[in-house]
Amino acid sequence: MPGIELIRGRSRGAAVAALAVVLSGCGGPPPYPPDLTFPVRDDRLVLRVPTAQPGGTGEPGKLDAELAGLDALGGRTAEPSAVPAVHRQTLDRFLAETFGTPATPTVTGTEAVTTAAAKLGLTPERLTEGGKLYRRHCLQCHGLSGDGRGPTGQWIYPHPRDFRRGAFKFVSAGDGGKPRPADLARTLRDGLKGTAMPAFGLLPEGQRELMAAYAVYLSLRGQTEFLTLAALLAEDDGEGGVDGDPVGFARDRLIVLLRQWERAATTPPGPPPPSVLDDAGKQDEGHLESVRRGYDLFMAKGVTDCATCHEDFGRKATYRYDVWGTVVRPADLTAGGFKGGDRPEDLYHRIRGGIQPAGMPAHPGLTDTQVWDLAHFVRALPYPRELPPAVRGAVYPGK
Ligand code: HEC
Ligand code: HEC
Repeated sequence: MPGIELIRGRSRGAAVAALAVVLSGCGGPPPYPPDLTFPVRDDRLVLRVPTAQPGGTGEPGKLDAELAGLDALGGRTAEPSAVPAVHRQTLDRFLAETFGTPATPTVTGTEAVTTAAAKLGLTPERLTEGGKLYRRHCLQCHGLSGDGRGPTGQWIYPHPRDFRRGAFKFVSAGDGGKPRPADLARTLRDGLKGTAMPAFGLLPEGQRELMAAYAVYLSLRGQTEFLTLAALLAEDDGEGGVDGDPVGFARDRLIVLLRQWERAATTPPGPPPPSVLDDAGKQDEGHLESVRRGYDLFMAKGVTDCATCHEDFGRKATYRYDVWGTVVRPADLTAGGFKGGDRPEDLYHRIRGGIQPAGMPAHPGLTDTQVWDLAHFVRALPYPRELPPAVRGAVYPGK
């Protein structure tokens, strides 16, 4: 895998030599060519997804055609090419000045921008290193600009994440939808179970941190571009806020986004999970009781609505559109293997904060005990023997 990007665009002899260097462990990953620039965005912006239910998941290799079809289904998409050329050039110049190139990544501009970026660890040195590692480990899926359209990307479902939307699923901060550093650390260490996103747990933690920083950088760049293009395209409807000044608009958006990332980074972790073991280290009696209460909550219409989307505990769940305009299915919770981790605290955050980009709502009104009860139930769900008998009968009739 590491050698693939290396080989493209080089002569074979040179590639083999370079590969040997990589495999022998010295030399580090190769830098980007100095004259390489980020591509000008030309794929459709998904501004609103249809409320109608999709018939099934998309087909490999058809992403752009599928997004183009969303308008006919009641969604709203827009072509970046509809932005007047003069605005587009101004915006592209701003993006280049603010974010540099793949070989010389930076987040710069006013002092507010540089200070905020430094606090987030987005310094040119770290981004340059992170970019090289990203090129080796992430680019084939997430793409040069973080558009999720790397060479392997379109053949994978769910598609690799398009970072340019600025939306993340497995977050514990609950503000602006941005992940805390600990969330990204978990995603990179353990991967996302049941998807193509691999676990990078065997790489040194420092390398994972650099790649996470680079993903944040691509997201900042891409979301600034996305929001400004969307506003420029909305001008026709008289609802834009660009006022003939895309650079001022983009700069303001960037500040807002940096603040969201900063707030997520400074959010303290959630409450520690209650102990489920008794003094002798055996599973507590109270735990089964908690699982049973969790089951009741799961089924309680109007209180949680879990069972509405996760029909028959997810076995019969129906497809829906996510914020990227691709198709997602409420998890089959009897199958186990949660994307965002199966520690009680992972499930606590999934339930408390929801999975916003996938349409799973937050549950701010539940007490902590109720959220833990739900987490305990969901964790026990794949294992019939861990369920209290009455609940087992309801989930696994006949067992
Ligand atoms: C083989 C393809 C593949 C590779 C390689 C890959 N990813 Fe992913 N990644 C995915 C897929 C697929 C998803 C989306 C899964 C989903 O949404 O269900 C994803 C999602 C993510 C997310 C979003 C998590 C969230 O909370 O929403 C981040 C961040 C991420 N990847 C970072 C990386 C980084 C950094 C690397 C390199 C170290 C990397 N990925 C390598 C396929 C890949
Ligand atoms: C409006 C629909 C909806 C409702 C209501 C809903 N979910 Fe979900 N849920 C989803 C979708 C969609 C996914 C899949 C997200 C993905 O794979 O990207 C999901 C995924 C999950 C996951 C898997 C997380 C992971 O890491 O893979 C768990 C656990 C979960 N839901 C629990 C619940 C619980 C508990 C409730 C009630 C408190 C609930 N859900 C209510 C739509 C919903």
